[in-house]
Amino acid sequence: MGFIEEIKRRRTFAIISHPDAGKTTLTEKLLLFGGAIQVAGAVKSNKITKTATSDWMEIERQRGISVATSVMGFEYKDVKINILDTPGHQDFAEDTYRTLTAVDSVVVVIDAAKGVEPQTEKLVKVCRMRHTPIMIFINKLDRPGQDPFDLLDEIERKLHLKVTPLSWPIGMGPTFRGVYNIFDRSLYLFEPNKQRVEPGIAFDDLSNPFLVQYIGDAAHQLRDDLDLVSGVYPEFEVDDYLSGRICPVFFGSALNNFGVRELLDCFIRIAPTPVGRDAEERHVEPNEEAFSGFVFKIHANMDPNHRDRIAFVRVVSGRFERNKPYHHVRLDRKLKFANPTAFMAQKKSVVDEMYPGDIVGLYDAGNFKIGDTLTEGEILHYKGIPSFSPELFRYVENADPMKSKQLAKGLEQLTDEGVAQLFTGKTTGRKIIGTVGALQFEVIQYRLLHEYGASCRYEHITLHKTAWITSDNKAMLDDFKARKSSFLALDKEGRDVFLADSPYALQTAMEKYPDIKFHFTSEF
Ligand code: G4P
Repeated sequence: MGFIEEIKRRRTFAIISHPDAGKTTLTEKLLLFGGAIQVAGAVKSNKITKTATSDWMEIERQRGISVATSVMGFEYKDVKINILDTPGHQDFAEDTYRTLTAVDSVVVVIDAAKGVEPQTEKLVKVCRMRHTPIMIFINKLDRPGQDPFDLLDEIERKLHLKVTPLSWPIGMGPTFRGVYNIFDRSLYLFEPNKQRVEPGIAFDDLSNPFLVQYIGDAAHQLRDDLDLVSGVYPEFEVDDYLSGRICPVFFGSALNNFGVRELLDCFIRIAPTPVGRDAEERHVEPNEEAFSGFVFKIHANMDPNHRDRIAFVRVVSGRFERNKPYHHVRLDRKLKFANPTAFMAQKKSVVDEMYPGDIVGLYDAGNFKIGDTLTEGEILHYKGIPSFSPELFRYVENADPMKSKQLAKGLEQLTDEGVAQLFTGKTTGRKIIGTVGALQFEVIQYRLLHEYGASCRYEHITLHKTAWITSDNKAMLDDFKARKSSFLALDKEGRDVFLADSPYALQTAMEKYPDIKFHFTSEF
């Protein structure tokens, strides 16, 4: 198969949802269709459990699972599908944001009873910023849920998305009879607990009296509903979906394997093939011959005896080849990879070549940071892998004076992995760790000890938010820095960061220094 055909047959996406909406169940059913797994229950949920949120061993166990499920590749109808897993736990939201930079589209799972939940709102906001095409799967139709029109309203209102249903439920919960697929104009009938997927019954014309034979009196309601649907929602246009202007919606029940195949069949037809990415220098298209890619995730190995890690690289352009020297742009060094790894469902294997859209796992002894770019020599820096201004802060102190080197190295590497952000107070020299979730503090302490042999202690710091500061008005910036010196820190790249100890302090600083820009993501 030629290079262009290889690109065209790839689809790289993530499934996102609030925990418990059914992401794991849906992923598993998709893998079953692709023949990547044979039995249900094979995909372990990559969520840090709901119950033991601060159980370290549990975190370690989950980390082991999550490396296995970080990327799940499979083939379906000659299409190579790469599903990128995203942690469900909100403390790991930043990990998820970064994963979203490596996909070309997303599927959002929503629980029909619970509707739009907070985590979904946050994640969709990131997708909207990037105009990522979104498909929506409304799940758990076998249970009583909200009225479908109300659900669509809520999605439009809370997620600020325009939707158009491509399937429509017939009843819900105890009265659930199936769905009418608007996209291929057929009827799919539901039988609880029947995992076998029946073909749809073609129903081009819903006024056909035979409809009643299949769904009884529900036929009237369905006709009324669909009249309303066609009056209220725009006709589906693939281009609107690809540009992020409209989101097609499907209804089903992942647990019952209902509505999943229709979603998948539609997905492989309309979901985007690998798209290019903007580097600081220029836009790069996937069909360019020279290889380029960026690191969006780093996963430390579980085995404490081997401190190697896996860097996950999204191939943006060209063909990645095993043992070929590539240019590590930040380090300005050539690196060769003897064991590039591909992930197929639960299996890992060494691969000789990878194509745009693929995710290649590279074993790394500490050369990579999140956001690093690999090329064949060109100087490129891929954009769009921001760090978000953290929300929780602690001073970190060395608890074992004999191990200060280990502590420094551990902190450096763990923050390279994106577990947390590290700041250094400008006047005090004290190290401050900032995270988006409380769990990270425990993860860091635990990993410092087990992977680096270093002990740390946390101390309280009164800090509301950090903001990166820049200004074209040098005099104003210098004045600000002089007056606020005890509230300034440097990030790992040596950039200035304002430490606002309260919302009020931040607001007054912004008002008093109008020429200073306060940035809440690291990309500016
Ligand atoms: P997540 O990854 O989004 O967190 O959700 P997950 O798939 O783990 O699903 C959360 C719960 O919802 C699971 O039940 C799962 O079986 C159930 N579920 C998923 N899809 C459907 C559906 O279509 N209908 C119904 N009725 N339930 C569904 P659990 O009891 O928490 O876990 P388990 O013991 O079944 O694994």
